[in-house]
Formats: sequence, C-alpha cells, structure tokens
Amino acid sequence: MNVLDPAGPDAGRLAELSWILFIGGGAIFALVLAITFFAMQGSDRSRKRLSGNWLVWTGGIAFPVAVLTGLLVYGLLLMGAESRPAEPDLRVHVEGRQWWWRVSYEEPDGSRLESANEIRIPLGREVEFVLTSPDVIHSFWVPSLGGKLDMIPGRTNRLRLTADRPGVYRGQCAEYCGGPHALMALEVIAMPAGEFDAWRAQASSPVENAPARGGELFLATGCGSCHTVRGTSAAGTIGPDLSRLGERRQLAAARLPMSAENIARFITHGQDIKPGNLMPEFRFLTADETAAIASYLAELK
Ligand code: CUA
Repeated sequence: MNVLDPAGPDAGRLAELSWILFIGGGAIFALVLAITFFAMQGSDRSRKRLSGNWLVWTGGIAFPVAVLTGLLVYGLLLMGAESRPAEPDLRVHVEGRQWWWRVSYEEPDGSRLESANEIRIPLGREVEFVLTSPDVIHSFWVPSLGGKLDMIPGRTNRLRLTADRPGVYRGQCAEYCGGPHALMALEVIAMPAGEFDAWRAQASSPVENAPARGGELFLATGCGSCHTVRGTSAAGTIGPDLSRLGERRQLAAARLPMSAENIARFITHGQDIKPGNLMPEFRFLTADETAAIASYLAELK
C-alpha cells in the first residue's frame, strides 16, 4: 500500500499534496536547524542579529500565516478541482464489519450482487462506494485509489473513486475496531471495463453447485446459518457470502491466499489465523470432512 503510487486521479491529487508537504516541511525543518545552529554556534555578530524581536515577528507569525494560508487555498482548490457527475457509473455498497467487508454491487436492474472482502471495479469509470457499518466505526482506505473515509454506525458516507491503471490494490481498515482490526484488509481489482462487465454478467448468473459430499457436509454442519451460497439452502447473512469464494484471491479479509488447504485451516484453526474473529472453530470435523468442505468451497466460482 503506497500513498505515493497513485492509480487514479483522486489518489494522484493526494500524492501531489503529500509531495508538496514533504518537500516544503523538509525545507522549513532544514531552515529552522540552520537558524538554531547559527544562534548557538555562530559569530557574535550573527548571534546578535538573531536575537532581535524581528525573528519572532517574521519567522514565528508572518511566515506561518502566509504559508498556511497559501496551503489552505491550494488544498481547497486541489480537492475541489474535479467536477463530479451527478450519478456515478457504478455504485458499490461496502459495509465494514468486525472484521471483514460486506460488498454488494448495485446491478442495473436494481438487484444486488453480494460478495465480500474483494471489490472489482472497471477502469476509467466513476465508482461510488456507499460506506456503512452495523457495529463499530471502521474506515475504508485503499491508498492507491484515494483518501480514507470512516464507516460510522447509523450514517451513510459516500466516496467517489476512479482507477485509471489496472492492478490489484490492497486496502486496510484504518480505524481501530477491536480484536483483529489489523487483519481487516481488502483488495480492489481494477480491470478493463469490458472485462468487468463480462465478469459481472457471469457473477450474477446462478451459481452451479455440483452435488458433492463437501456441499452436503457444508449444509449438514450448519454453515448455512451464517453464510450464503446462492442456489442452495445456505442463506445466512451473519458471515461473508461464499457464493463464489473460490474466485477470490484471498481468504478471511486478505489474511491468507485462497486455496482449499487454507480454507480447511481456517475452518478448524481460524482463531490461530485471525485471533478474535467471530467464526467458531469446527474442530469436531474429521480431517477428511474438513477437506471435503474446503474443496467444495474452493470450487465455487
Ligand atoms: Cu475495522 Cu478497524
């Protein structure tokens, strides 16, 4: 994650402002050090010159007022530079939860496409993230795409972002939300608009579940009381939607790379992997049963 490696215009403006602050702050720091040096070690003449009230008036009052006023005006102009269209091209609802992200894409027909912890967006199109939280304050932050915005219970915050460079951009919850806050990450995949449209059309089609032992075990173990797999009786909404789990790059809010082995580890030893997370460990399952459920989930694409 790098604020200084922008992948879109919003992050670009922040990077520009950051560089100005870094360089300007560094120059002022060097100037203060130099004045301090001459005030302590300089010749009698220079020490005498630096002891007058003029230095307080200019360096302590006039200079900061001028610099901070200039920065304020520049910052306001920079942040307000882009006129936004009234309607975004795509609206994605993101709900911060302890300790994962519920993601739901607004479909053109008004329905919702549910997912979790991974957000795909089309390049060059304006995306509005609708940010909410049902529990405590979280903060949505994908540094390569833009600034952070808090997710506050009882409020709806909106963040418009555009990506203009394809890639996978990691984000992180930026507000301490208890327990495994540090392990609450996400990924944004910016892809060409045509590919995104094709993916979305495919992703919203019914999930095909081959009747497999893992799928039967998944339902029999009660996983469906917290998780949804579209097209099955699993319709829980407490935990992440698993309908296309195998398609995602990462597991457990970008904690582990996606693989059947890691899903199996998370089912039985999730508290070691992400201490404090709200999913109980299912250690009563045999290794064979765990592997069957994990491979079923890894094949949901
Ligand atoms: Cu969610 Cu910190």
